[in-house]
Amino acid sequence: MSRTKAYDTRFIKDNDSEGLTFASEKIRAGEVVAFPTETVYGLGADALNEDAVKKIFEAKGRPGDNPLIVHIWDKSQIDELVSCITPVARILIDKFMPGPITVIMPKSDKVPSSVTAGLGTVGIRMPSHPLCNRFLKMCGCPVAAPSANLSGSPSPTTALHVMNDMDGYVSAVIDGGDCEVGLESTVVDATGDVPVILRPGAVTKEMIDNAVKAQSDYKGQLEEGQTPSSPGMKYRHYAPKASVEIITLPVMNDDIDPESEELSDEQKQKLFDIASPFILRAQEILKSNPAARIGFFAGREVKHLFDKIGDKILDAHVNFYVYGASSDVEAASHCLFDGLRLLDRQEVDTILVAGFKGEGLEVAYMNRLVKAAGKTGGDVPSHAYEQLGEGRTQISLDEFSDVFTASILFVSEDDRNLGAVCEGILTDLIRKKGPFCSVDDTKIGAELYVESAGLYAEDGRGPDEFSCEAFSSVVGGNISHHLSKRADVSFLDANDIILTVSDSQAFEVLSAYPELEGRVYSLSSYMASKGLVIKGEDGQIASVAIPDPSGADYEVYKHTVAALKAWLDILFPYIIKDLGAQRFC
Ligand code: TXA
Ligand code: MG
Repeated sequence: MSRTKAYDTRFIKDNDSEGLTFASEKIRAGEVVAFPTETVYGLGADALNEDAVKKIFEAKGRPGDNPLIVHIWDKSQIDELVSCITPVARILIDKFMPGPITVIMPKSDKVPSSVTAGLGTVGIRMPSHPLCNRFLKMCGCPVAAPSANLSGSPSPTTALHVMNDMDGYVSAVIDGGDCEVGLESTVVDATGDVPVILRPGAVTKEMIDNAVKAQSDYKGQLEEGQTPSSPGMKYRHYAPKASVEIITLPVMNDDIDPESEELSDEQKQKLFDIASPFILRAQEILKSNPAARIGFFAGREVKHLFDKIGDKILDAHVNFYVYGASSDVEAASHCLFDGLRLLDRQEVDTILVAGFKGEGLEVAYMNRLVKAAGKTGGDVPSHAYEQLGEGRTQISLDEFSDVFTASILFVSEDDRNLGAVCEGILTDLIRKKGPFCSVDDTKIGAELYVESAGLYAEDGRGPDEFSCEAFSSVVGGNISHHLSKRADVSFLDANDIILTVSDSQAFEVLSAYPELEGRVYSLSSYMASKGLVIKGEDGQIASVAIPDPSGADYEVYKHTVAALKAWLDILFPYIIKDLGAQRFC
């Protein structure tokens, strides 16, 4: 989507009353203003004005097919925006608003469909940030707003982040300081009998469960993984330019002061356990690429050990962003997007980021982090670039006047073997055969993404060793950094094509989300849809069913990777075309 720099963006400090009046007048006049909230900065426009809402999408550089959250300053505004408040919604509103939660309810006729991307529901959010509420009140209308980042970059948590992405594209940016939470709100579908978390955030599952259970007259049952009635989430790339690797921290019961002179042996060991994985991984990266620059998004214990070791080579190659005590997930969440942005500006190649186990805010933090790491999930080493070959020169996408993005998602059972391998194979093909441009206009570059997710995957697990070995022997590359992701509705909906490895998985996805019809295929139904039918010895059409090799011996894994590679080599040109792209010649 093209963007035009048409504004002299006014930067408004929090104590500038005249500036706030200016900004609220701009909202009433149908213009776009960026404002702070306690989660991340938002890019707001009058939610009841279709033309104003369109301008949000223009500024963000994203097509208008993703529903926006409507922001209010008073609960009494909800009535005119929704057609009904379910008992679940009532509990969430009473208990968590104002605060970092978005409650999805059936929409009223007053809310234009451009706000909800045609869905029959609307997400309502009442921020707790005082300046935000003051500003919303001055606007006098409900304000539709997505996060104020450029499509593709991490959400902004400071006004400066917003200026980096939006200067020249919006009327004003209001500076309300650092966002306290730092991760976007919890999005909860409250249209049914049970609340369904569509996006984890600072209002955690435990908090929601407790609130609902505390309501004695509430009859609904809490179940996990319920099917939302109207999926519409499309958040995909919290992705910095650098590749992101997660270094999971050991479980810590208490903070250790690394500077203390009186550490017990046990505490010293703990410090070492926290810090050494970062340092070892950095050394490993430098061994394969001595020119690499590495960012650490880590706790102060890591910095302490790093300084103590005083390795000059490491020192010359590592940039630090210290978020606080290693175990402080609130601090890590608060700083995550800032850290990714900052290290990216310092042009590091890889960012090693602290990962958390745990069930509270850890879930939201890991959700964003796995997505940030996901962009380079099927990591193909640099030699793949050299293989671009076939006499083609690599043209950077910067040289296109405009770029569109399209993506394909491979869905498997647990996203550890078949899915990871498919993602790796297609990523490799795209890198070797690119660059790509739009089928309609060769001046528009195509940025193609490949992802994988599993219907029953746990987040953050690596592929089997045999899969990695087989991949590197058959395809030539490394998928060991791949981390499994759950195929939740946001992932599914964010992709243009969804290919499942088995027929039954395609059936399962479509039964749960009929609105994805036309985008979901199994590998074999996709083949068949292209007229590529394979007949068995009996003359019957054979299904491309590739069993999961988990637990089998190495030869089976190798055979599986070779089979997937053969299918995807055949399907590649069809996939590219269906993504709206062609090879750029
Ligand atoms: O913390 C936040 O929520 C920030 C601040 C600015 O309020 N906003 C934000 O907006 O993160 P955005 O557009 O980046 O993300 C909103 C998410 C999207 O994933 C969208 O698909 C989902 O909420 N969403 C909005 N309305 C929905 C609906 N009616 N049904 C399902 N999902 C919806
Ligand atoms: Mg966003």
